[in-house]
Amino acid sequence: MSRRPVNPSRRLADAGSIPFVASIQSKSNNSPLLSIGLVIVGAILLIGYCYSSSGGASSDIKDVTKLEGGASCSLEVLQALPVLKKAYGDNMHKVLHVGPDSCSVVSSLLEEEDTEAWGIEPYELDDVSGKCKNLVRKGIVRVADIKFPLPYRAKSFSLVIVSDALDYLSPRYLNKTLPELVRVSADGVVIFAGYPGQQRTRGEEVAKFGRPAKLRSSSWWIRFFFQTRLDENETSGKKFEQASAKRSYKPACQVFHLKSYP
Ligand SMILES: *[C@@H]1O[C@H](CO)[C@@H](O)[C@H](O)[C@H]1NC(C)=O
Ligand SMILES: *[C@@H]1O[C@H](CO)[C@@H](O)[C@H](O)[C@H]1NC(C)=O
Repeated sequence: MSRRPVNPSRRLADAGSIPFVASIQSKSNNSPLLSIGLVIVGAILLIGYCYSSSGGASSDIKDVTKLEGGASCSLEVLQALPVLKKAYGDNMHKVLHVGPDSCSVVSSLLEEEDTEAWGIEPYELDDVSGKCKNLVRKGIVRVADIKFPLPYRAKSFSLVIVSDALDYLSPRYLNKTLPELVRVSADGVVIFAGYPGQQRTRGEEVAKFGRPAKLRSSSWWIRFFFQTRLDENETSGKKFEQASAKRSYKPACQVFHLKSYP
């Protein structure tokens, strides 16, 4: 077993039959990661503003993002949302996010017009903000183990976005989980994965995720997609790159775009 066992009531397979109950760990203060993340996001916005008003190069923005973005690709999803919107357009109308900090991602998505969003948080919730509790209570965000089949019909969501979560799965589970994510999508799956060599806080990681992240190279992922018969969507990949270039946005995580099943 590579991950902490979850309480059976947490299993996704049961989610349809029993009212979903999530126990939110009460921690004395909010996630330090999240606070650090917010500070970083603020810093990036400030630097971005300074650079755009002075017309300077944007390479420093990238460095700042890389430094802390390594700790969480979910925070990277927040930054990438405008770019994803450009690349996926109408396909962003019904989104499932899977990964840590799902409450933040889902909240941001819900602020967009004409966007429905759901989330799966595969690990204990760190964010015990009222907003997050509320999303969990309404069943919009579920705490569930993604090693089990997802309780959704095929093509339930136009787009599935997954961040960080796959980095903690061994190939044995990846083999099942990734095709499941593709199955419930209609217009694509976007994967945010860490770059090999990105430093993450190991102790904290093992406590939360049960094991340290296995950060894989892009060639590893591409071979894996091939073996599991998943196709990259070159059209959306290109659109994402073009929209990124236009905004001088450099993702701090690897981003892959997969096609849904026909
Ligand atoms: C995953 O699936 C691929 C293709 O079906 C197979 O070649 C590979 O051995 C599997 N890996 C594991 C760890 O089960
Ligand atoms: C590939 O991406 C394009 C553009 O985002 C999208 O319209 C199309 O449905 C995708 N194709 C598949 C098979 O997922």
